[in-house]
Amino acid sequence: MEATFAGKIAVITGAASGIGFTVAHHLAERGARIVGVDLNESIRDIGDRLPGTGHHGIVQNLTVPTAAAEAIDEAVRVVGTPHILVNSAGLALLDPAVDVPADRWQLTIDINLSGTFYMAQAAGRVMLEAGYGRIINLASQAAVIGLDQHAAYCASKAAVVGLTQVLSLEWARGGVTVNAVSPTVVETPLGKAAWAGERGERAKAEIPVGRFAQPEEVAALIAFLAGDDASMITGSNYLIDGGRTTV
Ligand SMILES: NC(=O)c1ccc[n+]([C@@H]2O[C@H](COP(=O)([O-])OP(=O)(O)OC[C@H]3O[C@@H](n4cnc5c(N)ncnc54)[C@H](O)[C@@H]3O)[C@@H](O)[C@H]2O)c1
Repeated sequence: MEATFAGKIAVITGAASGIGFTVAHHLAERGARIVGVDLNESIRDIGDRLPGTGHHGIVQNLTVPTAAAEAIDEAVRVVGTPHILVNSAGLALLDPAVDVPADRWQLTIDINLSGTFYMAQAAGRVMLEAGYGRIINLASQAAVIGLDQHAAYCASKAAVVGLTQVLSLEWARGGVTVNAVSPTVVETPLGKAAWAGERGERAKAEIPVGRFAQPEEVAALIAFLAGDDASMITGSNYLIDGGRTTV
């Protein structure tokens, strides 16, 4: 039976685009109220793009350490204590390791890792108080294998898996599960930009199922981990990679 999210409040970062928006749509279709957090101003109108009512959009730049606490405060004030947090805000800046400029390294770490941590910390505080929470962090296949020109990205995503493990053990007794999801290339704006043309065709050939992932497939996995049936699952990193990391 499909999970129902009636009565649940889900905070989703990066919800203006790609995986974040698709997860928001998937959960909203099943009854959740969505609080979308994004740098992109279009997040303000997320309620117009989702099924159901009672959704809310928050513009925040999550590279700013205080932004996460402000976003969770606003979510609690306007919609209520979140049951679910999905950390999908992120970016991929590709450079050969010898050329990575300091600002591009720092920006990657600031959003992919620190933004994820501060959101989990702020949401974790209110979830632990409520005794219930589901946190899902977007890592990547890049967390477990090396990828050409992905030094900053791979480092940030491997760290997200480490962070997920620590939070899961600290918060397990408080009713809060924390898991990571690690897709191969997903056909979103980020995925299409990083894997365009010949480079993308080569990457596709390296995936045993022979194709990239669709955002809906990632959303379905995240929804399972966000549901009540997944209470025994915490501290895991779920690969959704068509077999890519086994070859
Ligand atoms: N698409 C892929 O191939 C792929 C594969 C594995 C993992 N991932 C991960 O999944 C997540 C979502 O990726 P996507 O493909 O949906 O990307 P996307 O570019 O479509 O969406 C990312 C969203 O994050 C937001 N964002 C970026 N920086 C931000 C900031 N500083 N503050 C607030 N919001 C910010 C963007 O505005 C955008 O709406 C990322 O963490 C990415 O690393 C993606």
